[in-house]
Amino acid sequence: MPGDQSNRQIGLLVPWDPDGAGPAHQRLAAALRHQVNNGRLRPGDRLPPTRILAEELGLSRWVITEAYDQLKAEGYLTGRVGSGTVVAGVRETGTVRTASGSSSARRATPGPGTGELPPGLSGTVDLSPALPDLASFPRTAWRAALTRALATASDVDLGYPDPAGAPALRTTMAAYLRRVRGLDTDPERVHVTQGVRNAVALVSRALRSRGARRVAVEDPSWPRMRDISRAAGLDVVPVPVDRDGIRVDRLPGLDVDAVFVTPTHQFPTGVPLSASRRVALIEWATARDGIVVEDDYDAEFRYDRRPVGALATRARDRVVYLGSTSKTLSPALHLGWMIAPARLDDALAAARDGIGTLAPTLDQLALAALISTGAYDRHLRRLRGLYRHRRTALLTALSASVPGSAYASMDAGVHVLWQLPDDTDETAVLTEAGERGLSLLGLTQCRVGPGPPGLVLGYGNLPEHRAPGVAEALADAVRAAGGR
Ligand SMILES: Cc1ncc(COP(=O)(O)O)c(C=O)c1O
Repeated sequence: MPGDQSNRQIGLLVPWDPDGAGPAHQRLAAALRHQVNNGRLRPGDRLPPTRILAEELGLSRWVITEAYDQLKAEGYLTGRVGSGTVVAGVRETGTVRTASGSSSARRATPGPGTGELPPGLSGTVDLSPALPDLASFPRTAWRAALTRALATASDVDLGYPDPAGAPALRTTMAAYLRRVRGLDTDPERVHVTQGVRNAVALVSRALRSRGARRVAVEDPSWPRMRDISRAAGLDVVPVPVDRDGIRVDRLPGLDVDAVFVTPTHQFPTGVPLSASRRVALIEWATARDGIVVEDDYDAEFRYDRRPVGALATRARDRVVYLGSTSKTLSPALHLGWMIAPARLDDALAAARDGIGTLAPTLDQLALAALISTGAYDRHLRRLRGLYRHRRTALLTALSASVPGSAYASMDAGVHVLWQLPDDTDETAVLTEAGERGLSLLGLTQCRVGPGPPGLVLGYGNLPEHRAPGVAEALADAVRAAGGR
């Protein structure tokens, strides 16, 4: 069944501080124990193999094995040779309730991942920050997931669907987001969308129908988000971003009903929203009776091992949480999810009726199968390695060739903001770059107000060996545009 979670080989949000005090294995055991006690890890949840978790946290395998062994001794975890480590169950009056369901191992089905650019891009290099590695789409795993979806879909599933999404995907997504983003939510709160754009359109219409007039956006931000909100009849008010994220202190003076943010990895600057501003943002929303829309568009990709939790974990009644498969699988799938407070349900349903498009049920069921079999986690793990190398290759090539510097962003995501010297004519650079076969997004296109020039460079679809050539072409474009 698509909702079966017995065989997940999982990614895991472990709150881990590499600089914390005390022996690492004890601290890791404490962190995992806490995840079980607070319900983020539940009976039957499969823990990552020791080798994988060791790689992800930058610890030795011994530390992971010690922590797992300690928790097995305490009855929190259980494990057999060959079948992995699993959360044993809720500790009840000295007994351990074991997980139900089969734990039979299934084969991994890695995608082809040739690393070559698709033929259509052989002439132009598309550095759009929106693109993942298109060659890495897990074709084999997706075909298996579609086959599974077709085999398990009931006749009822093939009728007119629930507009909020297929129950199997909503259940799988709720469990997935709890596990990887720490979001404690119910399947009823999960709305399946056709990606973040569709969700922004839905939530903007819903807010407008409930009387909202003005919404704040980060400046700079993703231009599409502003366009979509304006099209829904909202006035968009820019709020500056600095190295700690959006200037939350500006919100009280702006008379806005909602704010759209990218707190995990600000788009396009790449900074996380600081802890104090997270608190202040929720305080603003509570005092104002406002809504915070959290676009968690690339949270799956962190390379420095310090996870940033979702803002929505702090105030589920104030935050609308958005994600999609556009960066993890392919923008062509057009699949996403939204977790919204219950009081927006009616307005969202009306907005959905107004827009009138739904994600195809079989694709929804396939995504549920991809996640519940562990294939999605395996795919993401592979992509994290790929993107980390692509990021390093592009940054190294740029610093060798192009004047300017990378904005002090996190080691994360699939794009980097490259700041050009102040006297550079950004528009001329874009034109010159276009003539050299580079398709680029300029920082000015992301801004509402004025600011220094820059380029938003996506490396998701840029193989390492092409980075030096791209940097040379960019350097040439900057020179031709009159820069240094
Ligand atoms: C900030 C931001 N949010 C979300 C998305 C993804 O949107 P969608 O799911 O509609 O493809 C992108 C893609 O570029 C983005 O830059």
